[in-house]
Amino acid sequence: MRTLIRHLLAATEPAELIDAAGWVRTRRDSKAFSFLELNDGSCLGNLQVIIDQGTPGAEQLPKMSTGASVSVRGRLVASQGGGQAWEMQAAEVRLLGTAPEDFPLQKKGHTPEFLRSIAHLRPRTNLYGAMFRIRSRMSYAVHRFFQERDFHYIHTPIITASDCEGAGEMFRVTTLDPTSGAKQRFEDDFFEKAAHLTVSGQLEGETFACALGNIYTFGPTFRAENSHTSRHASEFWMIEPEMAFCDLQGDMDLAEAMVKCLVVEALEKQDGDLAIFEKFVDKGLRQRLEFVASHPFERLSYTEAVEILQKSGKAFDYPVEYGLNLQSEHERWLTEEHFKRPVTVYNYPKEIKPFYMRLNDDERTVTAMDLLVPGIGEIVGGSQREERLEVLLANMERHSLSLEDYGWYVDTRKYGSVPHAGFGMGFERLLMFVTGMQNIRDVIPFARTPGNCEF
Ligand code: 4AD
Ligand code: MG
Repeated sequence: MRTLIRHLLAATEPAELIDAAGWVRTRRDSKAFSFLELNDGSCLGNLQVIIDQGTPGAEQLPKMSTGASVSVRGRLVASQGGGQAWEMQAAEVRLLGTAPEDFPLQKKGHTPEFLRSIAHLRPRTNLYGAMFRIRSRMSYAVHRFFQERDFHYIHTPIITASDCEGAGEMFRVTTLDPTSGAKQRFEDDFFEKAAHLTVSGQLEGETFACALGNIYTFGPTFRAENSHTSRHASEFWMIEPEMAFCDLQGDMDLAEAMVKCLVVEALEKQDGDLAIFEKFVDKGLRQRLEFVASHPFERLSYTEAVEILQKSGKAFDYPVEYGLNLQSEHERWLTEEHFKRPVTVYNYPKEIKPFYMRLNDDERTVTAMDLLVPGIGEIVGGSQREERLEVLLANMERHSLSLEDYGWYVDTRKYGSVPHAGFGMGFERLLMFVTGMQNIRDVIPFARTPGNCEF
């Protein structure tokens, strides 16, 4: 069994004959011996392996070039040079797979654009290796956050007939004609109605919250949004808690607690990996995250936000006017320039929000809330839901949603309706916030954006 390099580098004492394996990052040769820098993906650090020319397998050294895979058996000895405590003196080395000269990740700087074009190889770089280890750890922390608070994890469907957000940004699910094998499609006959990839698990999640109390979903969601921005993807992962017997206040509290918890997780558990983002992406990253973890977020109504923006004297590209959506430049100004911290904006005009949000007593606004963070803008969108049957039915009528299609959803209000609330957090946007990465394409293994579904 090989020992992970992460464990080897953290060893407390020298050790006899250990097996390690990984990919060569660099090789340096001298007359008597060679040094291999080996990385196995378990951590940012490389294991330095010293191979004397007489070592069994050393005759293959010329083929152990950058990118080649190698296994090695050897002793862990105190490192002579600075940097790391331990290195390995090889007793035996084996070449597993060569990497010819055209291996694209030769030791030099590469642009993010180039690395996106080789998304299948980029996790072999230091930065993207760290990125996807952080992504993994953050997924685990999301589950832990909810499980520790007695939320139940619900698998809402990927294929659905409903449109939660009502924005018509859905991908249609169709089938190929099996007789011709060609790209000809059946129209709606497989499910006997039009089916789509889900834009949000919220509506189904609500039905489970109205049975199990507190639930969350965490899965892929899809938007056929033709937005060519650095914050929108056609396929992204969303975390959606839904709480029965909960109002807008409780909803905002949970979102803030969750962002803080995940930031702390990154700081404490992914410390080593975070270092590379601090070095190459955002020098102030750690300081910024520590501030977020330890300070309250700002909260203000949409009306107040609009007033502050209008009084700012700043020339925005998009107009700021009551009744219009806040654009990302407005959201970023509020968080970066004005409050200098994350901000939750609540009570938006009902006209710019979906049908399911609870109408406030002023009858102009709904209990929506968006959590905005510096560097990105919106990272969470949520609301208290309209639990009053009559009001919900009126909203549905205004949005041309039929009882035939949404009767199942209306049942939550018909039978034992309760105040309830929830939100959706874009997992990629959270990862951008935690790492300082500027483009959503760089925080998801295989990005899907308009015009980009290479493999
Ligand atoms: O604000 P949104 O559209 O809200 C909903 O879908 C609700 N049904 C959620 C709920 O209440 N259960 O999306 C929620 C979050 C956004 O704040 C953003 O972080 C992310 O999902 N998001 C996207 N992330 C990447 N690419 C896109 N195209 C995204 N669209 C939304
Ligand atoms: Mg939103």
